[in-house]
Amino acid sequence: MKNKPTVIDLFCGCGGLSYGFIEAGYDVLLGIDHWKDAIVTFKNTHRNAKGIVADLFKESPEEISKQTGIKNVDVIIGGPPCQGFSIAGKRIIDDERNQLYKSFVNFVDYYQPKVFLMENVPNIVSMGKGVVRDNIIEDFEQLGYTVVYKVLLASEYGVPQNRRRAFFVGTKKNKEFIFPKPTNENQVNTKDAISDLPEKSLVDGINYKTGPKSEYQKLIRGNSNGIYNHEITNHSEQTTSIISLVPDGGNYKDLPDELRKTRNVNIAWTRLNSKKPSFTIDTGHRHHFHYKYNRVPTVRESARIQSFPDTFIFLGSKTSQYKQVGNAVPPILANVLAKEIKKYL
Ligand SMILES: C[S@@+](CC[C@H](N)C(=O)[O-])C[C@H]1O[C@@H](n2cnc3c(N)ncnc32)[C@H](O)[C@@H]1O
Repeated sequence: MKNKPTVIDLFCGCGGLSYGFIEAGYDVLLGIDHWKDAIVTFKNTHRNAKGIVADLFKESPEEISKQTGIKNVDVIIGGPPCQGFSIAGKRIIDDERNQLYKSFVNFVDYYQPKVFLMENVPNIVSMGKGVVRDNIIEDFEQLGYTVVYKVLLASEYGVPQNRRRAFFVGTKKNKEFIFPKPTNENQVNTKDAISDLPEKSLVDGINYKTGPKSEYQKLIRGNSNGIYNHEITNHSEQTTSIISLVPDGGNYKDLPDELRKTRNVNIAWTRLNSKKPSFTIDTGHRHHFHYKYNRVPTVRESARIQSFPDTFIFLGSKTSQYKQVGNAVPPILANVLAKEIKKYL
């Protein structure tokens, strides 16, 4: 592990973000989250890292440092959940709602890493007409960082999903981070991502029945010797018969009038489009269906769309697994950023 840059992942979830860093040659020392299930998956997939269940509302960096013995780190990464910010004039008000963001700032202040990467929802850059974004930049500038931000579209970096996320990167020594240019000329579509996974459930660990059917499948299988987390959802007869009327890439508008309103949200009765990157994978709301089968994608299919390798196994209940997958930063996108960040260390 010597000479590899070190990383702490705050609000790590199952560790999609830090997995991209491991694959880029970093040594992830620690992941922290208050969600036990996610930490179980994190520890199982980040074997050299410590994973601790802790509430970052309460635990200070000093306490975490004492508890883990970690005194220095090269890079701090993480996605603090931001439920919203109260703003007065041009400042974020210090209240409960921004404590998790402040916790991230405190860790950066305490450890003074060479680089930090903070991920968030895209609208963080426009909240309060840009006041939130400007405050974030200022907060870190006061700690001696040069900060840049950008909203990236995952499908432009080899991920079969049109997921947008905002990233703030801070570097020391006035060397401004330059975000990597989109890496793929040909977008990976949903069929490329999941067409080798069957209609029915598989027992965990069972061997692949066919060879990979796309370059992406070859990449994502890596050295995996079996398929995990491919348990299908059994829908009611009514659900199955309604979704069977929606074509590949279609939605509720393809249904007869009397069926359109059978679910109360616009995103209901949507099918993935086999020829396009997927829309953003959610945390298991069960409104988005497979492009061909009359069921929602399995956890493994969702993980493929999020660019998790097949060797990354999700633990916990099925509901929890969907949430772990849906919350994550796609590892392939994280990997592109991690490789770029290496140039600044
Ligand atoms: C967007 S997810 C992070 C996903 C992760 N970066 C990944 O790529 O897999 C946000 C995480 O923050 C965690 N979280 C929310 N409140 C927290 C708190 N008070 N203390 C610690 N973790 C918290 C959630 O459990 C969730 O896993």
